[in-house]
Amino acid sequence: MARAAAAAAASSSSSSSLLILLLLHAAVLASLSGAVVEDLDQTFKETRVNDIWLVDFYAPWCGYCKKLEPVWYEVGAELKSSGSPVRVGKMDATAYSGMSSEFGVRGYPTIKLLKGELAYNYKGPRTKDDIVEFANRVSGPAVRALPSNQMFEHMMKRHDVLFVYVGGESPLKEKYIDVATELIVYTYFFSASEEALPESVSLPEIPSVVVFKDGSYFTYDEYEDGSLSSWINKERFQGYLQIDGFTLYELGDTGKLVAIAVINDKDPSEECVRLKSLIQTVAKDYRQHFNRDFQFGHMDGSDYINSLIMGEVKVPSVIILNTSNEQYFLPDGPTDSLEELVGFITGVLNGSAQAYGGDGIVQRVKRVAFDARSTILSVFRSSPVLGCFLFGLPLGVISLMCYGICTADSEPDVGDMELMKREGLTDEEEEEEEEEQRRAAQLEGPENDDDDEEEEEEEEVEEEEEEEKAPEQKKTD
Ligand SMILES: *[C@@H]1O[C@H](CO)[C@@H](O)[C@H](O)[C@H]1NC(C)=O
Ligand SMILES: *[C@@H]1O[C@H](CO)[C@@H](O)[C@H](O)[C@H]1NC(C)=O
Repeated sequence: MARAAAAAAASSSSSSSLLILLLLHAAVLASLSGAVVEDLDQTFKETRVNDIWLVDFYAPWCGYCKKLEPVWYEVGAELKSSGSPVRVGKMDATAYSGMSSEFGVRGYPTIKLLKGELAYNYKGPRTKDDIVEFANRVSGPAVRALPSNQMFEHMMKRHDVLFVYVGGESPLKEKYIDVATELIVYTYFFSASEEALPESVSLPEIPSVVVFKDGSYFTYDEYEDGSLSSWINKERFQGYLQIDGFTLYELGDTGKLVAIAVINDKDPSEECVRLKSLIQTVAKDYRQHFNRDFQFGHMDGSDYINSLIMGEVKVPSVIILNTSNEQYFLPDGPTDSLEELVGFITGVLNGSAQAYGGDGIVQRVKRVAFDARSTILSVFRSSPVLGCFLFGLPLGVISLMCYGICTADSEPDVGDMELMKREGLTDEEEEEEEEEQRRAAQLEGPENDDDDEEEEEEEEVEEEEEEEKAPEQKKTD
């Protein structure tokens, strides 16, 4: 890095002061990098026990790992300079495969925070700020105290969704701490005495677990809401969200249906604005009816949804997605009024609405064809010449062969034909297996608009799906 900067400095005489600055920066980074990120080997298993570690398990050949590397040094530098107790390391998971599989590493790169017996997977965006925030959150106490009203107000400003245990020692508090220890990968957990809450908050009983969000607060009810952890998992998002591919993937864990207004943010037409505010109204005013089963939001643009459902949705329109089985629901008629929209959602809830898509065999075959088509189209779009060469050449050869076969005298051997057919079928089935995983990952995972990165992105998404199956938190021994 320093050498590159030096070369740049030599080749250009202007803006030299900036370059000197850059050079200094590079030199500082280079001198720091040895210290801030430690290269881990097989001794890690013994040496790690007394510290909290943030580890990047990488493979030397993986493109995403290379992209992460500079970010990782920044993460290391920031944690170090902020005085965090978290030590940052990286381990070549291919060289120490035994140890990394003990840590549950199944894709690259895998980011884990290791804290005593606990291991937490990081699944968010791979940016410095997000990773540092994760490390600070997860390395700290599972439940943080809010000793005063000022502190409470301060945290309310900083967090859109705030979970607070209110009360003294109790079995509920113990349960809350257990759940917090597991779900701290998603959000912060606080505890406070009743006095620390604003006077406007009145709780039916103490102790309670309360979530503050959407300008209001909601109390956990053991009898209505099921287990505390499933309630927290469902309540950890605001009632109404701007949704993108990544949010959709995150929402998958809640098991809720996702009702989305597909709109164009740049289109100020009345239709778009009205639909968005209708969905917002339903999210707020019909919370009692729908909150347990639905997450509401809007999505800007229809490309993501279109590739998800392998079709085309109108903009603006409403669609309800079931991320667990990949089914989706579209309204039969217009949804211009609150009644129509609520009727549509009720229909989905009571099972009377028609479901489309799903993960059946027909859909899987359709997905194979759809992906093949998009791949071919994207190759042609980015490079028509390459496209003609890649797909035209084999086509030409096949046509020539067909021509040869058709004009030949001999009858085709029936036995061979049948064999070919059967082989063809087997191939297809194998493909479907693979495709199933890929397609599932696509529904859950973030999608990249950039055609050039499509391949790589899929690789990443697949491994994220694998992690998904692993429990959020794993005893490492
Ligand atoms: C969504 O999918 C899950 C898993 O297949 C299923 O149990 C649930 O009933 C579906 N929900 C609706 C409303 O179809
Ligand atoms: C389901 O909801 C729709 C829309 O509100 C309603 O018209 C229909 O009668 C309901 N069906 C059942 C079986 O409850």
